[in-house]
Amino acid sequence: MSKAKYTVTAALPYANGPLHLGHVAGVYLPADIFVRFLRMNDHDVAFICGSDEHGAAITLRAKKEGITPQEIVDKYNGIIGTAFKDFDISFDIFHRTSAEIHHKTSQDFFLKLYENGKFTEETSEQYYDEEYQQFLADRYITGECPKCQNPNAYGDQCEKCGSDLSPTELINPTSTLSGKTPILKTTSHWYLPMQNHEEWLRAWIKEGKLDGVQQHDPKAWRNQVIGQCMSWIDGGLHSRAMTRDLDWGVKVPLPNADGKVLYVWLDAPIGYISATKQWALDNNKNWEDYWKGDRKLVHFIGKDNIVFHAVIFPILLKDHGDLILPDNVPAYEFLNLEGDKFSTSRNWAVWLHEYIAAYPGKEDELKYVLTSIAPETKDSEFTWKEYQTRVNSELADILGNFVNRALVLTQKYYEGKVPQQGELTDYDKEVLAEMKAIPERISKLVYAYKLRDAQAEAMNLARLGNKYLADQEPWKLVKTDEKRVETIMNIALQITANLSIVLQPFLPSTAEKLSHFLNFKTTDWTQAGTSDLLAAGSLTNSPTILFQKIEDSLVEAEVAKLQSTNAVESNFEPQKDTIDFEDFTKLDIRLGTILEAEKVEKADKLLKLLIDTGIDKRTVVSGIAEHYSPEEVIGKTVQILLNLAPRKIRGIESQGMILMAEDAEGKLSFMAPEKGFEAGGSVK
Ligand code: MF3
Ligand code: ZN
Repeated sequence: MSKAKYTVTAALPYANGPLHLGHVAGVYLPADIFVRFLRMNDHDVAFICGSDEHGAAITLRAKKEGITPQEIVDKYNGIIGTAFKDFDISFDIFHRTSAEIHHKTSQDFFLKLYENGKFTEETSEQYYDEEYQQFLADRYITGECPKCQNPNAYGDQCEKCGSDLSPTELINPTSTLSGKTPILKTTSHWYLPMQNHEEWLRAWIKEGKLDGVQQHDPKAWRNQVIGQCMSWIDGGLHSRAMTRDLDWGVKVPLPNADGKVLYVWLDAPIGYISATKQWALDNNKNWEDYWKGDRKLVHFIGKDNIVFHAVIFPILLKDHGDLILPDNVPAYEFLNLEGDKFSTSRNWAVWLHEYIAAYPGKEDELKYVLTSIAPETKDSEFTWKEYQTRVNSELADILGNFVNRALVLTQKYYEGKVPQQGELTDYDKEVLAEMKAIPERISKLVYAYKLRDAQAEAMNLARLGNKYLADQEPWKLVKTDEKRVETIMNIALQITANLSIVLQPFLPSTAEKLSHFLNFKTTDWTQAGTSDLLAAGSLTNSPTILFQKIEDSLVEAEVAKLQSTNAVESNFEPQKDTIDFEDFTKLDIRLGTILEAEKVEKADKLLKLLIDTGIDKRTVVSGIAEHYSPEEVIGKTVQILLNLAPRKIRGIESQGMILMAEDAEGKLSFMAPEKGFEAGGSVK
């Protein structure tokens, strides 16, 4: 049987910000490992990526930075593309959706579906910002998620619970442009009637069957992917608008569609196809070979992209006809950082390009750690402490130590020449058998998308070698049994040569160094496992140190850097001195209802209030008159500090103080409790 062919994609990153380690650990690095492995195993493979340059993610960022969307995408396409190159992510192409070939490809795609009646045209009422005179799609609108109550859900998705939303589902919708509540206004769009696709989707996702024909093994899909898709389908699919009222994106290729563009989640995945086209053009290939016929399409993505890749894009591909559907959609959970979520707005992140700039030549250290903690089945966490531990006690103490010993002793005893392998002891045989078994185990794990375990297996080979030398102690034996030492060193060097193969997908530059030390290189995975990779007498080179140990000071500096940038620029007062809980409990704060209110004569700022506190009625003088009229405040429930020593203000005794919220401009607001709470309740 000929080898399976693959088209592997990695989610197109939005060109609205740099990449952080969460993106790398949960999409690009695993995709790269997978592809490097496939290439070594002689699969025909195309590895496709590019930047996603449309949609509200871009225009909103442009607004924030005060530059045009084009400037934004040019800037971040550059930063992201360079970081990928420096980090040696081996895309065959890193393209961009602003390219003309992409606009044309996605318009053709749209037209084909349109002409084949795959869309419906529907008129509906959508949120509209009157101040900005703009419809508010997707991220232009935020509000409370109806499913998990996250107050900052977007119009298309809640990033907290992963639910896919439509703007009208949001509770308390707010325009991200003006900050105001939007109005509803009529507009018309082309919709994808997803509800017509439920039946085949179920069979395809759950059983891997399409029209009764087995397409893929559903057991190979991650539970989380199947689970999210099925719960979405079980909740009932609906028509979903495939166009938007926006002035940035791929223009809808129909008459009377001025001011309308394709929905970014329609055009972006088509970006995989247009990137393939460009790559094919550049390399004298036929793009259709990569999207049609007998080939596995694999999408590496983050979990927030699941339904787009495993439901919506497959519908589009099927509607288009003659294009392959994904064979697998390995989705990753989220990576956290030092106990908190990565957050661009709070700058709680380790940026890939900053890591590369700060630690040039240490890409493999980061790759190793990120793969070790990759959020394959659940969220995981990056800490600088763990980075240090894994680099020091695994890369340096095990891999580095072993390779260094093997090569340094070879220099010392044999002037760098690989010694003969003599008679083998049982222990030697065991070690060689284990060495032979490891590549096969790695293969199985990689094909099952268990890259974390696969890397651990590769590392086990270094562990095996390290233990072998430690147990055999050739440096002692050399005084009494030179012949035996030759065999030991030969085996140690064969293990090193094997490492130069099995580490390649994970730590390509380290593997390259090993090849250089040994004057041995193969990119053929099937050679791994054998114990005669290095001929006796062949020359090796003196090694250099593979991994430097990470000092505590680096960890401390990185953590301090995070913490200092995490404090945002603010117009608000800094935090006051710390108090004890005892101090806090001295405050007697209650809910009160304002019964009466009147202006204090000759005092512009003051209102005299009569407040029902639940235990009495008391007079409070409050400085809110510039913000509220007496009429406005009567009947309000307020928080009142009861046990503040009474004091006379303008001749009136004030018996407490009401608590108000104040914004950076000094505007005041009541902090009303939820309905049903009334005077007398306490605030703690
Ligand atoms: N830009 C999207 C994100 O970062 C991913 C797009 S993947 C594609 O979440 F398939 F649409 F290209
Ligand atoms: Zn939610």
